[in-house]
Amino acid sequence: MKTYDYLIVGSGLFGSVFAHEAKNAGKRCLVIDRRKHAGGNLYCENIDGINVHEYGAHIFHTDNREVWQYVNSLVEFNRYTNSPIANYRGKLYNLPFNMNTFYQLWGVHTPAEAEEKLAEQRAEYANIECPANFEEQALKLCGHDIYETLIKGYTEKQWGRPARELPAEIIKRVPVRLTFDNNYFNDPYQGIPTGGYNRLIDALLSGVEVRLDTDYFANRAELDGLANVTVFTGMIDKYFDYRCGRLEYRSLRFDTKRLDTPNFQGNAVVNYTSADVPYTRVIEHKHFEYGTQPTTVVTYEYPDTWNEDKEPYYPINDKRNNAVANEYKRMAEAQGNVLFGGRLGQYAYFDMDDTIAEALRLFRQNIM
Ligand code: FDA
Repeated sequence: MKTYDYLIVGSGLFGSVFAHEAKNAGKRCLVIDRRKHAGGNLYCENIDGINVHEYGAHIFHTDNREVWQYVNSLVEFNRYTNSPIANYRGKLYNLPFNMNTFYQLWGVHTPAEAEEKLAEQRAEYANIECPANFEEQALKLCGHDIYETLIKGYTEKQWGRPARELPAEIIKRVPVRLTFDNNYFNDPYQGIPTGGYNRLIDALLSGVEVRLDTDYFANRAELDGLANVTVFTGMIDKYFDYRCGRLEYRSLRFDTKRLDTPNFQGNAVVNYTSADVPYTRVIEHKHFEYGTQPTTVVTYEYPDTWNEDKEPYYPINDKRNNAVANEYKRMAEAQGNVLFGGRLGQYAYFDMDDTIAEALRLFRQNIM
């Protein structure tokens, strides 16, 4: 008899939810992770009592009531509402695009005035019938002012390419809100776990055996031999030895500073939307949890090209990569006793709520 029912590769949100469910169903699980900590990209480092989102800002939001009830049954959530600010050449604007933004851009006071201004802005580009690239598409959707001030520079930094060289399909709509509402998300449920994300991961992995600093690929045959089923949440192309080619990602570089001031920017998230500032965002972590510490910690976020030595943050879901990923997914389906999940195992961008829903779905479908 094998020692475990499940070997779960990766202690990120996907692996942790799967392990939690399996343990509650009486299954024997071993979770491994190559990092020195559990939690994957949700992990927070504690500096001066502030939970620093080590792998980028994480804000929980969902319209899925089951997922919201699930996480609330594990930890308490605060009332944090994401309302980012954009800084364009020293001037501040509210996001998402709403009546506050339109007042700041054009001095308009009413929805009717804003609609008139938006129509006037769009009319300038009405002659673009089939947008050939991102820039044309964005101009057609929202006109010059919003595009130049709040979209162009930020997007070019994110993708590392001029907007005219990016495909039009990246931007399908530019949502505008004709109310004075700075809540970035439309979802009914939103917040940050009280005490930070590590508490959520601890609750999920409570009672589960976890081995850190353990890379699956360093000892693959032996690890597979321990369990009846492997749940793999690492890179799917690496699992198959890159047989169909390598998948590409976009990476990020974080520059984190501890500052001797209680409040640096007055908001958790400030986006820098002009191309001449090299970073895209500055995160002041304490504001996610209404921190009152005498010091603060800020992180400058720089988009980065990806290579094997860097974290693969965002899949690049273009035609080539999707075709390669589909090959791997076909190969994955043919594996009898290996299940693939999570953002790397499925080569997809999943928000945290989607990740939980997917892990619950995979578990329920495959419970032995
Ligand atoms: P994740 O990458 O977290 O975990 C995979 C784990 O597997 C890692 O711990 C890794 O070390 C381990 N692993 C990989 N290969 C291994 C190997 N060979 N051997 C052993 N272990 C291995 N979502 C949201 O809802 N709100 C938000 O605000 C954000 N913000 C955000 C910011 C940034 C910068 C990113 C990149 C993503 C977000 N997200 C988000 C998405 C969120 O991060 C995502 O939903 C979850 O982290 C996905 O969890 P996974 O378990 O799939 O991956």
